Amino acid sequence: MSTITRKIGLSLGADTCWPICFEEILKDLDLTVKSDKDELRFEVERVRIAPFSLESKVDYDLVIDRLTFWYAPAREWLKKAVLMDGAYTWNNPWSIESNQKHTAYAAMMALGLPIPETWMIPPKNYEPKPDLAITLNRFADLFDLGKIGNDVGYPCFMKPYDGGGWVGVTKCDDQAGLRDAYEKSGLDLMHVQKGVLPFDRFVRCVGLGPQTMLMNYDPSAPLHERYRTDKDFVSAEQRKHIEDITLTINAFFGWDFNSCEALLKEGTWWPIDFANPCPDSQVTSLHYHFPWLVRAKLRWALFIAATKRKMRMNLDWAPFYEVRDRNLPLEKRIAEYGRLARAHFDTERFETFCANELASLDEVVWQYFGSERAREAVRKKVELLFPRHEVEHFTEHFFQAIQAWRVDDKAGRDAARAPKLTQHVLSSVSGAGSVVGSATGSAVGGATTAATSSSTASAASKPSSAPAKSSKSSKKR
Ligand SMILES: Nc1ncnc2c1ncn2[C@@H]1O[C@H](COP(=O)(O)OP(=O)(O)O)[C@@H](O)[C@H]1O
Ligand SMILES: [Mg+2]
Repeated sequence: MSTITRKIGLSLGADTCWPICFEEILKDLDLTVKSDKDELRFEVERVRIAPFSLESKVDYDLVIDRLTFWYAPAREWLKKAVLMDGAYTWNNPWSIESNQKHTAYAAMMALGLPIPETWMIPPKNYEPKPDLAITLNRFADLFDLGKIGNDVGYPCFMKPYDGGGWVGVTKCDDQAGLRDAYEKSGLDLMHVQKGVLPFDRFVRCVGLGPQTMLMNYDPSAPLHERYRTDKDFVSAEQRKHIEDITLTINAFFGWDFNSCEALLKEGTWWPIDFANPCPDSQVTSLHYHFPWLVRAKLRWALFIAATKRKMRMNLDWAPFYEVRDRNLPLEKRIAEYGRLARAHFDTERFETFCANELASLDEVVWQYFGSERAREAVRKKVELLFPRHEVEHFTEHFFQAIQAWRVDDKAGRDAARAPKLTQHVLSSVSGAGSVVGSATGSAVGGATTAATSSSTASAASKPSSAPAKSSKSSKKR
């Protein structure tokens, strides 16, 4: 038996907290997986940026990339690594062209999902280019934005077709507001989209491989409080429906990691923002949900590296269109897409792998997030975003949010074990025909209270009825 090392590369930009946690947990886990004849070990390394020969071999089994959407050298290196060296990368560097709202809207509309009525408007201004004037003079129609606004109805949103981080997004209540937003849109290519307002529920669903996490979302809260921590905000059917939508989008475009924002109005879920090349991964916005994300990244990364999951380089849309052409009712159709998506992400094999090979991961993650090392990782991120005099306060704030997660995580795992324990107790108490105390969660030690949510981060944007502008990179870091 020989020992083989599987390598995971992290291609990072400004990411600060999650890579530290990822690396430290992997070290704590000290994982060995037995394959047929070999013993697999796992290593993680931060990818460097340097000149490279196209013939130099890339030896990462997986690269988790956070740069592709804006940094060409990383994107081109990744493409070479996939094509020539068999690396798996998330996300697929070729899917970047689809990774803007417009393509994603069009694709999901083609599959029959309800997307709010959306128009694309030629830009207000242009960078000068040699043939531009002649092209516009010959072919560009004058148009009446007011008529488009009337057709779509108010309130509507004017927003970049490829935007992120709420940059350039304006809620327009009337024609004057719409015209004003267009005047200010500059070089951006804009959508006018019907407002899903007032909505009954706003959710955000993260998809990481086959794993999903659904969060209640409050766009009117400060940045660090938008993800709510309540649990029962949708029914089980609605949850499955949104998870199916998220996984469908991700499988369709070959995105291993993405998030989907959807609004519920009068019984219909309307996805509005579901093309995120670099979904939020920071403790300063995810707070309570951050450990889930780190653990999900570890699980999916280890599954890929251990099993040498093959990356699908070309997208395969035909099966989705075949389902579409069966004209099933919406609920059934989305469930069918979800089934395809779950197959795409090897869900069963993944779950078996987690149960057999990563059985200790939950506990390692739980221990780690109670440690001083985790607190330091939080502090490093907080130091980047908050003024010095707020660092202590917000480090504690986010660390306590993580402790609240630990309480719930432990209770959840104990509850999941409970039926087995009860079974065990029943079978070991021979002749016990009466009630046996069920094994509910054991005492949760060391964990403290939920995060307070009263403080307002000075670094957080505070939207009013129309979303506030924040830095374009904020969503994508
Ligand atoms: N059609 C819509 N209906 C209701 N609210 C919307 C709509 N489009 C955008 N918004 C609001 O604007 C915010 C930013 O728009 P979004 O489409 O998510 O763009 P970004 O990619 O910049 O986050 C959303 O979180 C939501 O609060
Ligand atoms: Mg959004």
